Amino acid sequence: MNTVPENATLRVDGVVTANGSVSSGLLKLDLELSSDLLDGAHFLPGQFAMLNLPGSRGFVFSRPFSIYDWQGPVVSFLYRVVGIGTAALNELGPGEKVTFLGPLGQPFPQLADDQAAILIGGGVGLPPVASWLQRWGRAQDRGYFGARDGADVPWGQLQGSWQVSVDEAVKIPEDQVAFRGRVTDLVDQDQSLDDSFRRVVLACGPIPMLKAAAALADARGWDCFVSLEEHMGCGYGACKGCVVPVTDPEQGYRNATCCQEGPVFSASDVVWDRYGVSPLPTVE
Ligand SMILES: Cc1cc2nc3c(=O)[nH]c(=O)nc-3n(C[C@H](O)[C@H](O)[C@H](O)COP(=O)(O)OP(=O)(O)OC[C@H]3O[C@@H](n4cnc5c(N)ncnc54)[C@H](O)[C@@H]3O)c2cc1C
Ligand code: FES
Repeated sequence: MNTVPENATLRVDGVVTANGSVSSGLLKLDLELSSDLLDGAHFLPGQFAMLNLPGSRGFVFSRPFSIYDWQGPVVSFLYRVVGIGTAALNELGPGEKVTFLGPLGQPFPQLADDQAAILIGGGVGLPPVASWLQRWGRAQDRGYFGARDGADVPWGQLQGSWQVSVDEAVKIPEDQVAFRGRVTDLVDQDQSLDDSFRRVVLACGPIPMLKAAAALADARGWDCFVSLEEHMGCGYGACKGCVVPVTDPEQGYRNATCCQEGPVFSASDVVWDRYGVSPLPTVE
């Protein structure tokens, strides 16, 4: 019998069942969790997990990754190799262990019947928006994925109502189509986004893409929620190493923890002028 409270955070071991490329830059990692008390019902789209290697191979700080999929005891992630932690994940083969702490953080909102999602994912920003579409997607919801070129697109993962944009229109498979330009321009020119629903943007990706998504939503009068990828230490509110500037009626702005109050924030709460900008002065 399942006795874990819904959405409880658990620290468990996972065993790698698959780990391989889904595009030129993205890999998919499947972990079978050791707890048979957990299943996919325990995560909500937009939540993340802190991953690490066990024992002496482990890192001081676990690394945060959005939960992409969760079927039975197997939880999946999409990741890009950018440094030592993700390079170590890339080395793992079937049977090797990973420590898992999750699910963590605030999810994207589920939408009402008269609302329609505009899901925008850029690069490794795909997992939280794809998991939203898989869990809660309806006929009126649309997905838009932006990549560098056709080789960077995980075509096999984009089932259903996805449209794709590329910076460079090269390496696109013959049976696929892609818009050339920014993913937010792809959304902006989509004539099917009429007023028959209240549109809500749910976005995850590089900061310039999120700023463009927030600006587009603002211009069109749409609500917008963004999932932010801050550097994280603990993942549960203890270290204060992951702060995001959000509006505050008294002080103008305050620092919110991305791991606890986010990673999903209303775009209208984020102080975009201060976000992603180094607080340190530049030395000439
Ligand atoms: C809530 C959340 C969800 C995330 N989901 C995913 C995901 O689904 N797939 C994925 O590939 N990545 C995701 N990330 C980013 C991922 O955590 C980092 O890429 C990872 O921690 C890098 O570890 P590393 O040891 O390989 O890199 P490091 O050696 O620590 O750093 C290498 C480079 O990556 C940069 N970097 C490190 N951490 C981050 C970060 N959090 N955001 C942006 N740049 C960073 C560093 O500044 C440096 O330039 C997520 C981050 C957060 C906060
Ligand atoms: S990562 Fe430690 S407080 Fe957010």
